[in-house]
Amino acid sequence: MTGLVALTVPSATKVLLLLELLPLTAAFSWTFQSAPTQCQNLSISISGGGTPPYSVLIIPSGSTPFTNGTEVRKIISQQFSSNSVSFQLAYPAESQLVAVVSDATGFGTGGTSAEAEVVSSSDSSCIDASKSVVPDWYLNLDPSNQLVQCTATRIWWTSSNVSGNPFFFGVIPGGDSFVIPESNVNTTSDTGTGFSWTPNVREGTTMHIVGNDNNGNGTGGSSRLTVGQNLQNDNSCLNSNSPSSTAGTPAGGSYPTDTSGDSSGGSSTSSNTNVGAIVGGVVGGVLGLLALLLIFYFIRRRTRQNRKNNEKPVDLLQSDEGDERPNGPGEPPEYYRPDPFIVPDPTYDESSASASGRPLSASERPTSRSGTPDIASSSTGTKKTGAPRVLRPVNIIQHDDAGPSEVGGKKEEEPETIELPPAYTNIRK
Ligand SMILES: *[C@@H]1O[C@H](CO)[C@@H](O)[C@H](O)[C@H]1NC(C)=O
Ligand SMILES: *[C@@H]1O[C@H](CO)[C@@H](O)[C@H](O)[C@H]1NC(C)=O
Ligand SMILES: *[C@@H]1O[C@H](CO)[C@@H](O)[C@H](O)[C@H]1NC(C)=O
Ligand SMILES: *[C@@H]1O[C@H](CO)[C@@H](O)[C@H](O)[C@H]1NC(C)=O
Ligand SMILES: *[C@@H]1O[C@H](CO)[C@@H](O)[C@H](O)[C@H]1NC(C)=O
Repeated sequence: MTGLVALTVPSATKVLLLLELLPLTAAFSWTFQSAPTQCQNLSISISGGGTPPYSVLIIPSGSTPFTNGTEVRKIISQQFSSNSVSFQLAYPAESQLVAVVSDATGFGTGGTSAEAEVVSSSDSSCIDASKSVVPDWYLNLDPSNQLVQCTATRIWWTSSNVSGNPFFFGVIPGGDSFVIPESNVNTTSDTGTGFSWTPNVREGTTMHIVGNDNNGNGTGGSSRLTVGQNLQNDNSCLNSNSPSSTAGTPAGGSYPTDTSGDSSGGSSTSSNTNVGAIVGGVVGGVLGLLALLLIFYFIRRRTRQNRKNNEKPVDLLQSDEGDERPNGPGEPPEYYRPDPFIVPDPTYDESSASASGRPLSASERPTSRSGTPDIASSSTGTKKTGAPRVLRPVNIIQHDDAGPSEVGGKKEEEPETIELPPAYTNIRK
C-alpha cells in the first residue's frame, strides 16, 4: 500500500508537494467522519488493510476551556472490530484532543491526529464542570514535568490503585505514537516505583505521555510536555527511526484545529493552509506597501521642511550664495549685481587717470558693461573716438520684494520682473 504524504516546504509561498511514497508504517488509515463536537457522537472509520481488533485513544490536549481550571475531559479508549466506531465525545467546546488509532499489530499503527478542536453544540448535557475529573492513579516524572532530549528521566507511580504492571504511551500530535520501553523497574523511597527512560525525541517536539494499566488505557492520566534542549547538545540517541512529529499529513482526515474553524489533517487541510499562507502573504504585502508609503511620505515631508527652513527672503544685495547660484530665470543677470560695478567718479578725466603715470588705453578705460551695446561708439563711429569718454553717474536700484518670500514651487513657475533704469553710459554731461 502506498501513502500520500504532503511535504511542506518552508517558504513564503508554502508550496505543498504531494509525493507518492513507498510503504509507510501505517498499514491502514482512519478518518473522523465529522468534526469532533461537544457532547455529540464522534465517529471514526477505518480504510485499508488493518488487522482487527482496532482501538482508538482520545487524549485531552491543551488547557481546559474553563477559566476556573476545571478539567472535565477523560481519556477515552475504545476497542472495535468493524471498520467504524461511534461514541459520545464528552469534551467541552473550544478544547483540543489528539486521537490515536491502532490495530492488533501495535500501538499507533493507524497514525496520530493533529490537535483537533472540539466544535460547540447546543448540547452540554455531558459536561459537569462542578468538579475536575481525576485519574485512577498518577504518572510522575523525575525531574518533575520535564523531558530532555537524550537525557534519562524517571517515570514513576505509587503502586496503590495501579492494576498490574503499568505501561506508557508516547503520543506526538500529528506524528508518531509509540509504547515507551520499560526496563529495570525498581522502587525507591522518594520516587516510588518506576523506571528510567531516555527520550529519543528531538528537542522542541510536543508529546503526551499516557499512563495505562490492566484496568484500561489512560487510567494513569496523561501529561503534555515539550521535549527540552540538551545542554550538552547530545543527540546520540536520535536516528532515522526516532519518533518524531513527521512532516506528513496528520492522520484523521480533515477537522478543525483552532477556534476560528481552520482545518487541519487531511487533503483539504493543505488547501486551507495554502489559503492561510496566501492571505498572510497578501496582508503582509499590503502592510509592507503601507510602510513604504509612510516612509516615503515622511522623507518628503522632511525634505520639504528642510527646504522651507533653508529658504530666506531673496536679498541680492547681501546674499553671498547668489554668486554661487547660476543665473536662473528669476534672477538678475550677473552684471546687475552691485558688487562688481564701480561707479566712476563724476569728475573723472584723463588727467586724473594719468596719475597712474600713463594715459589709459582704450581697453583700460572704464566702459559700460560688456554685454550692453555701446550705442555712442557704434552709432557715431570714428567721429568721437578722439574725445575722452566721460561717464555719467549711474544709480542702480534693485527693487526688493516686499512681504514674505514666495513658496518654492510657485517661485519657479512665475517669472520675476526686474526693473532697472537705463544705464545712460554714453550720454555726455
Ligand atoms: C452515539 O453512539 C452510541 C454508541 O455507539 C449509540 O448508541 C447512539 O445511538 C449514537 N447516537 C447517535 C445520535 O448517533
Ligand atoms: C490499549 O491500547 C492497546 C494498544 O493500542 C490496545 O491493544 C488495547 O486494546 C487498548 N485497551 C483498551 C481497553 O482499549
Ligand atoms: C467552573 O466554571 C464553570 C463555568 O465557567 C462552572 O459551571 C463550574 O461550576 C465552575 N467549577 C467550579 C469548581 O467552580
Ligand atoms: C486510590 O483510589 C481511591 C478511590 O478511587 C482514592 O480514594 C485514593 O485516593 C486512591 N489512592 C491513591 C494513592 O491515588
Ligand atoms: C533504580 O533504577 C535506576 C535506573 O533505572 C538506578 O539509577 C537506581 O539506582 C535504581 N535504584 C535502586 C534502589 O535500585
